[in-house]
Amino acid sequence: MTAHAPGATPRHYLMCEPTHYTVSYRINPWMDPQRVTDTDLAVRQWRTLRDTYLELGHTVETIDPIPGLPDMVYAANGATVVDGVVYSARFRYPERAAEGPAYQKWFADRGFVTHTAEQVNEGEGDLLVVGDLILAGTGFRSDRASHAELQELVGRPVISLELVDDRYYHLDTALAVLSSDPASPQVAYYPPAFSAGSRAVLERLFPDAVVATDDDAAALGLNAVSDGLHVVVAPRATHLAGELRRRGYTPIPVDTSELLKGGGGAKCCTLEIRR
Ligand code: ARG
Repeated sequence: MTAHAPGATPRHYLMCEPTHYTVSYRINPWMDPQRVTDTDLAVRQWRTLRDTYLELGHTVETIDPIPGLPDMVYAANGATVVDGVVYSARFRYPERAAEGPAYQKWFADRGFVTHTAEQVNEGEGDLLVVGDLILAGTGFRSDRASHAELQELVGRPVISLELVDDRYYHLDTALAVLSSDPASPQVAYYPPAFSAGSRAVLERLFPDAVVATDDDAAALGLNAVSDGLHVVVAPRATHLAGELRRRGYTPIPVDTSELLKGGGGAKCCTLEIRR
């Protein structure tokens, strides 16, 4: 029997409006600084994403965008928040380095206990909570040592997964958490983005996971946001949407095509705050 969607739970998200969004450097294969970006369109798409969460009954807070940080819209990279503890991001590339302290300050100003990371990690881009576990990507951005640092900080098992395809440079571009319910954790993922050993780990942990196709992955369909029932997903990931429906999830297509030029989708724009 195939595991079924457990049901929606209210979520608390942090987002950053793409006021200063553009593609002015290249740190992943999706980014082409020669290509024109339309900041107004990015803002409209982002607002639709935010409004979608609000309509689903979730809470959305925002952090002020900072001029000169065009990737700050990808809030998922800003930190990892587990059980109310904030593990700060420490970015791989200098272009994004200032985002880590900016997000950390946002949390500290609101009374969160924050921990300044010693190891390179790009927040929820690579660190995904699934039930009691944390799945952790490495290979392109976050260092493996950050996985151990996070495990020690939050006392949850952190499972390292090796990414091998540079188009899927963050774990959240290759794997989506569908259910974080400890009783029925579930994910969708794109096997070719992982090393053979990591694929075997995923098969063991999630024997009936949703397996994405090349087209689903290329549309960044796995950069999806689930509340346990509704899954906000790129409209072009049609096979993935069908698989989600078959398992009782409700796919909610939201177009973030302008933000795809920077190499991100819905999940990249969404940092989950777990109290
Ligand atoms: N241009 C950004 C970068 O390369 C995109 C980040 C996307 N975020 C994510 N959570 N995958 O760092």
